[in-house]
Amino acid sequence: MHSRIVAHKQSQTTSLANEFLTISEAAAFAGKTRSNISYLIQYNRLNKYNPNGERIERATSGELRISRTELLDYLRKSQERINRRMKELSITNTELSFAEVPERIRTKHVHRLHPYLGKFIPQLVEYFLSRYFKAGQVVVDPFCGSGTTLVQASEMGINSVGMDISEFNVLISRVKIASYDLKLAEKEISEITARTVAFSEANFDQEMEMLALKERSYLENESDYLNAWFAKRSLKELLFFKSLIPEYKYQDLLKVLLSRTARSCRLTYHYELANPSKPIREPYPCYKHKGKICRPVTSILPRLKFYGRDTLRRISEFSKLRARDTTALVFEADSRIFDLEKGVDGVMGEGWFRRKIEEVGAGVFTSPPYVGQIDYHEQHRYAYELFGLRRRDSFEIGRKSLGKGEKAREEYIDGISNVLINVRKYLLPPKSVWFIVANDNLSLYPKIFDRAGLVVRRVFHRPVEDRTERDKGPYSESIFLLD
Ligand SMILES: C[S@@+](CC[C@H](N)C(=O)[O-])C[C@H]1O[C@@H](n2cnc3c(N)ncnc32)[C@H](O)[C@@H]1O
Repeated sequence: MHSRIVAHKQSQTTSLANEFLTISEAAAFAGKTRSNISYLIQYNRLNKYNPNGERIERATSGELRISRTELLDYLRKSQERINRRMKELSITNTELSFAEVPERIRTKHVHRLHPYLGKFIPQLVEYFLSRYFKAGQVVVDPFCGSGTTLVQASEMGINSVGMDISEFNVLISRVKIASYDLKLAEKEISEITARTVAFSEANFDQEMEMLALKERSYLENESDYLNAWFAKRSLKELLFFKSLIPEYKYQDLLKVLLSRTARSCRLTYHYELANPSKPIREPYPCYKHKGKICRPVTSILPRLKFYGRDTLRRISEFSKLRARDTTALVFEADSRIFDLEKGVDGVMGEGWFRRKIEEVGAGVFTSPPYVGQIDYHEQHRYAYELFGLRRRDSFEIGRKSLGKGEKAREEYIDGISNVLINVRKYLLPPKSVWFIVANDNLSLYPKIFDRAGLVVRRVFHRPVEDRTERDKGPYSESIFLLD
């Protein structure tokens, strides 16, 4: 009798343990990261349970569980949503949707060092580079953005050259492709973080009120934007951290870490991080948290610590994967007029670029900005203001402020064809292979290719699924293979 009760209890415990998973178990089960699962809990996509299967509001340490059934249901519904989209878009070739690639692989290593609206997923780049390029060749991306092509090429032993008009995008790319002494990077990140924590604790009380903070010039700023978008304590912490950066070797890495932190510490609604509409200082009912009352961030410290660890993990993962003896270069430049050969040879030595093209081969893989869609400067305004970077909005092709009207389209066609004509001077198809990724719903590309003297050899189509936050319209992307 006693042993039957024990056996019954054991099987009850086992079935509870099967149904109610820890975050790590759920992540392994769903092929996601722990932070993906935490995100789903945080945003009420999944309920919280204790190990006995009882719903809870708050979990004590080690207690939190989530339901396997609910997780499966969530995964099934999101798959159905993707399938619906593919149908809406009449796309039958599912290979290029990469829908089944888990989030943690889509955002692997340095690809998620900093948010950037409008990047493509690394698997898409990998798919084409592995089929059309060979190790040792050169791939050029005249709209390199956050550096996805350059990172992926570096992983595959392909040399790469990127250009972008935005100083901040170039900074992100440069930080992703750089090599680091990991011990030193770790030391620098922990030390600068500890110094910022000490500064903050010494100068602010529990209520986040400023104590007798001696006014120091580096803690002052005249940016109305920063004063409006950050709580006083957050802003002083950001400015303090920034003032320390010149003391360290990996200054760009620290800037990207600080910028990532700043981005998520703006006084904005949780659900508007990608496109904040107005600064908010009061608690608010949160769309993302199903009406829960959320509060704007008042100190950067928790996020700074988290992103610091995350940054180290990501650069360390990438350092193990990147191919040896592979060059990756990035230039802040207007790709309509940039002298590619001179720029590259200036870094690599006279004749390097030509030799590579002629002896090993080179090509293009790029995704141009689209007309009137994304503002590539404004999306990182916090970084421009914080670091005093130079904005070159008026050189941005297809910039959002011009809209999508007839005049904007004409200017866009001009801009993109001029980039292609400029790059074509060095990389002449069919000897060089060219790929252009675009969501050409306005059918502008036939005219662009015509002007640039490029001929479409083949078009691949892929559905693009959920983008960030509420920007969720389904659309299809074309990948043009050109001669
Ligand atoms: C679609 S995004 C590229 C995203 C990139 N594939 C990635 O994964 O991060 C287009 C990029 O073109 C850049 N751009 C716009 N006008 C430019 C110009 N005249 N010269 C160089 N880059 C430009 C923008 O700053 C933006 O970063």
